Amino acid sequence: MRWHSLLLGLPLGLMWLLSSPVWAGVDIARGESLYATCATCHGASAEGQQALSAPRLNHLREVYIVAQLEKFRAGIRGGEGASVSAKQMAPMATVLPDEQALLDVAAYIVSLSSPVSPVTVAGDERLGADYYNQFCGACHGAKAAGNVALNSPVLAGSDDWYLVAQLAAFRSGERGAHAKDRTGRQMRAMAMVLPSEQALSDVTAFIRSLADGAD
Ligand code: HEC
Ligand code: HEC
Repeated sequence: MRWHSLLLGLPLGLMWLLSSPVWAGVDIARGESLYATCATCHGASAEGQQALSAPRLNHLREVYIVAQLEKFRAGIRGGEGASVSAKQMAPMATVLPDEQALLDVAAYIVSLSSPVSPVTVAGDERLGADYYNQFCGACHGAKAAGNVALNSPVLAGSDDWYLVAQLAAFRSGERGAHAKDRTGRQMRAMAMVLPSEQALSDVTAFIRSLADGAD
């Protein structure tokens, strides 16, 4: 079967990803040298570093990494009103010299492998599962593997402390409140649906449990 006829059954976002000429020209070796700056905070294997609030990255998909880097570069994430940690990341994205560099560094990051970080958040997994199935699974998938067509990232494999921090940031408007942040605003509305602060830990404990046994 020709490769492009295989594409017909795939969601739009993924079709774009696989058929886009920019991905075909990705230079992983260049990505590796660009990543040297990132490693200071995110770690040599993109495993993340909680002491610096820098999350694990290598469980994410390239498209999502690129999309977030674009947002940081444009000040749509990490701009005015953002959290301290997002403001630390924003200038790092602007260091990347050109658009192709975003693709190169993203391709390098996903080629790495690192273990899921240890559990640091205490929450009620059963209650969390109820919240997740009711409010989150439709976009992020039953196993939190994400959905490219809906721009929803993988959550299984994220640091639990990062999940709680991001949910809190969406709720407070530190993330997702920018007028041009279409996908951030969608997620912000969903974070608001969680009934309490404790619910952030509960849903996170459930998401973290999905990563056990995964890479
Ligand atoms: C000074 C430390 C630092 C450096 C250097 C750094 N980052 Fe970050 N990065 C962070 C922090 C902190 C966050 C969390 C931002 C937040 O809380 O919203 C982050 C978040 C991210 C995210 C968002 C992840 C997600 O799940 O939404 C991506 C993607 C990312 N960084 C990529 C990079 C890349 C690529 C580089 C190198 C070009 C880099 N970072 C360099 C600190 C850093
Ligand atoms: C309508 C679809 C939708 C629903 C429902 C949804 N999300 Fe999201 N979520 C998104 C999108 C889109 C993004 C990416 C936002 C961006 O581009 O900045 C996202 C991002 C996130 C992030 C940030 C991840 C990262 O690596 O930066 C977390 C955490 C998250 N969602 C958790 C949840 C939880 C928990 C629920 C249920 C309470 C939920 N989401 C429900 C669409 C959704």
